[in-house]
Amino acid sequence: MVYKYQKTTPDWMYHQANLDAEKLPDIQKELLKLLVMTKKQNLVEYTSTFVTVEKELVCKTCPLMMEELCRLGLHNNFSVLAFISVQSDRDFPPHVDVECDIGLNIPVINCKGTETVWYDGKIKDQTVPIYVIGSKSVEVSRIADPMTVTEIGRCDANIPHWINVNMFHRPETHHDKLRIAASLRFYPEPLDENRQLWPHLIKE
Ligand SMILES: [Fe+2]
Repeated sequence: MVYKYQKTTPDWMYHQANLDAEKLPDIQKELLKLLVMTKKQNLVEYTSTFVTVEKELVCKTCPLMMEELCRLGLHNNFSVLAFISVQSDRDFPPHVDVECDIGLNIPVINCKGTETVWYDGKIKDQTVPIYVIGSKSVEVSRIADPMTVTEIGRCDANIPHWINVNMFHRPETHHDKLRIAASLRFYPEPLDENRQLWPHLIKE
C-alpha cells in the first residue's frame, strides 16, 4: 500500500481539471497580477517556496477565476490560494502538506517543462527546508525519508490538475528558470464519501 498521510486521503494521484480552456489565458493573467502584488507585500524570497494568499484578496484580484469556480460550484468551498515557486538549484523535497488532501494547481509562469511527481516512502518527523516555508501554514508539512522514496507517478504541471497533496509529492523542473504555479485549496474539499472528486470537476 502506498503511503498516505491519513486514511481518508484519496487513493488517486491526479486528475486533469475541468477548467474552461478558453478562459485559462485570462485567468493566468489575473494570477500573474496577484503574484506581483503579493510578492511586494510578502517580502519572501520566491525560490522554492510555498506562499499563501488570503481568499479576500484573491476574490478581488481574480474575478474571472472566481467566476469559473462559481460555474463549478466551488465558490463557497474555496479557502486559500498558494503560489508554489521552484528554482532548479533548490530542491523541493517529497512531502505531505498535512492540512489538506487535495489542491487545484494552475500553471502561472515557466510551467512548461515542469511536472508534479509522486512517491511512496516513509514519513520523517521533519519540516520542509526553511526556504520552502514562505507562509506559517507550511510549517506543518512533513517530508519523506529520502532513503525510502520511490517514484509512483507524475503529471505535466503546465496543465491545470487536481493533485493529491497528502501522498508524498514534489514539483520538478527540467529547466533553470524560476517556475511558479498557483495551488487552490478548499474547505470542505470537493470529495465524495469514497474520497473521489466530484465527477464534473474532472476533464474527460
Ligand atoms: Fe505540497
